[in-house]
Amino acid sequence: MSKISILVLHGPNLNLLGLREPEIYGSVTLEQINRSLKVSGEQLQVSVSCLQSNHEGVLVDAIHNAREKHQGIIINAGAYTHTSVALRDALAAVAVPAVEVHLSNIYTREEFRHHSYIAGVVVGQISGFGADSYRLGLQALVNYLNNKGEI
Ligand code: DQA
Repeated sequence: MSKISILVLHGPNLNLLGLREPEIYGSVTLEQINRSLKVSGEQLQVSVSCLQSNHEGVLVDAIHNAREKHQGIIINAGAYTHTSVALRDALAAVAVPAVEVHLSNIYTREEFRHHSYIAGVVVGQISGFGADSYRLGLQALVNYLNNKGEI
């Protein structure tokens, strides 16, 4: 049986992690997050591919392409979480199981961050655990896929 493949998508401004508002997002860089996700992937016996983009259309294309290549998606859509019907529709269109993650707890921050357009089309959401949100999201997604979607 071939290995489960997971796509990790990072949205706008997440390339600046480590520099960007460290009091909110922590001091860990995106490269460090990606590296530790690959290590977690090895432990969970899945392969992990990571992509960051500041462009909505690139993220939409990546979600479309995931249909052929990946069995699950971890997505931190950054600010597009709160604005993008296009990302929501892309996730709904491909029907690849996805987990939404956020470093910060979006519900304890400004009101405009309390609504996620993508929350309604993902398996679940993890928010507020810093870089650990990604690791927890990966673990949850892999458990979900191994249990064939039964929770
Ligand atoms: C974020 C939260 C969003 O509100 C924000 O726009 C981001 C990062 C997070 O990971 O906490 O860019 O998705």
